[in-house]
Amino acid sequence: MSVRRLAEDHLQPASFAFNAENAEWAQATIRKYPEGRQQSAVIPLLMRAQEQETWVSRAAIEHIADMLGMAYIRVLEVATFYTQFQIKPVGTKAHVQVCGTTPCMLRGAEDLIHVCKKKIAADPLTPNAAGTLSWEEVECQGACVNAPMVIIWKDAYEDLTPERLEQIIDEFEAGKGADVPTGPQNGRHFCAPEGGLTSLTDDAVPAKADLNAAAPVASAAPAKADAKPSLDDPNRPKSIDKPETPDDLELIAGIGPKIAATLHELGIYTFAQVAAFTEKEVEWVDSYVSFPGRIARDEWIKQADALARGGEEEYVRVFGKKPR
Ligand code: FES
Repeated sequence: MSVRRLAEDHLQPASFAFNAENAEWAQATIRKYPEGRQQSAVIPLLMRAQEQETWVSRAAIEHIADMLGMAYIRVLEVATFYTQFQIKPVGTKAHVQVCGTTPCMLRGAEDLIHVCKKKIAADPLTPNAAGTLSWEEVECQGACVNAPMVIIWKDAYEDLTPERLEQIIDEFEAGKGADVPTGPQNGRHFCAPEGGLTSLTDDAVPAKADLNAAAPVASAAPAKADAKPSLDDPNRPKSIDKPETPDDLELIAGIGPKIAATLHELGIYTFAQVAAFTEKEVEWVDSYVSFPGRIARDEWIKQADALARGGEEEYVRVFGKKPR
C-alpha cells in the first residue's frame, strides 16, 4: 500500500475554481442528492476538478469542502484514499497507472514498470521533462483475468506486453491516445479464455429462435444447432491427407482440442492451410464450428501465418508473447 501525500507546497496553486461549465455541472450534481446528503457529491466533484486541472490540489480540496459544507480533513481523506485521484501534478497527456498486485506481477507487471522507467521517468509520480507523461504503481484494478494491465485516465489497457505498452505510450505522447483501443491488446474477446473455450463447447447451442420460444418442458428434446454447411460446398477449404507430423493447431489462440479435432476431420492439419484460408473459406469454417466471427476475432490467419513462416520465434516477434 502506498503512502499518498499532497504535493509539496511549491507545487500547490494559490487557488482553485471550477470554470463556468464545470461550476454549473457541480451545482446540478449537488442538487441530485436529498437534502442533508449533499456531501455525497464529494467524489464526482473531486473527479471533475481533476479532469479540469489533471490533478487535485490542496486548493481544489478546500474549495470542494467549502461547497459541500465539509471539514477540509474529510475531503482530504477521500482524495488521498482513492488512487484514481492524482494528488500531485501528473503528465498532461498520460498518467500511466501500472497494476503491481500479484496476478499482474506474475504476468509481467515488472516489465511494464521497467518500460515506464525507461520511457517516462525513473521515479513514479515524477512527470517527464516535457511534463506530458508520468506513471505510478497501483493496487489491483479488477482486471486480473487480463493481467498485466495499466489504467490511463479512465480507461484500462489489458493483456499487455512491454512492446505494446511502449507503443501505447508513444500514441498518447503524440496526442493520439483516443485512437488506442481500450481493453485487451492481444485480440482476446473481453475476458474470454485466451486459448479458446474449455467448457460449454458443445455444438448443441440453441438457435436464437429456440431461446425466444416458450420455456422448454423437462422432457423436451435438446435444441438443435444451426445447420452446418455442406461438406460439398465449394467454399470448404481444401483438405489434405494427414501428414506424418501435423502442425500443433492448438498453438493458435482460439483453437482448443475440440476445434482442432474438427479441423482434422476436415483434412486441415497445417498452419499453412489455415494461413491460406480465403474470406469465403473463413465464413464456411466459422459456420461449421458454430462460432461465427471467431476466426477473425482471434486472428487465426495472422497467427497461423507467423507460425507457418517462422514457428514460435516468428510468433513471438509478431505478437510479443509465446503461443500458448
Ligand atoms: S492484479 Fe492487476 S488487475 Fe488485479
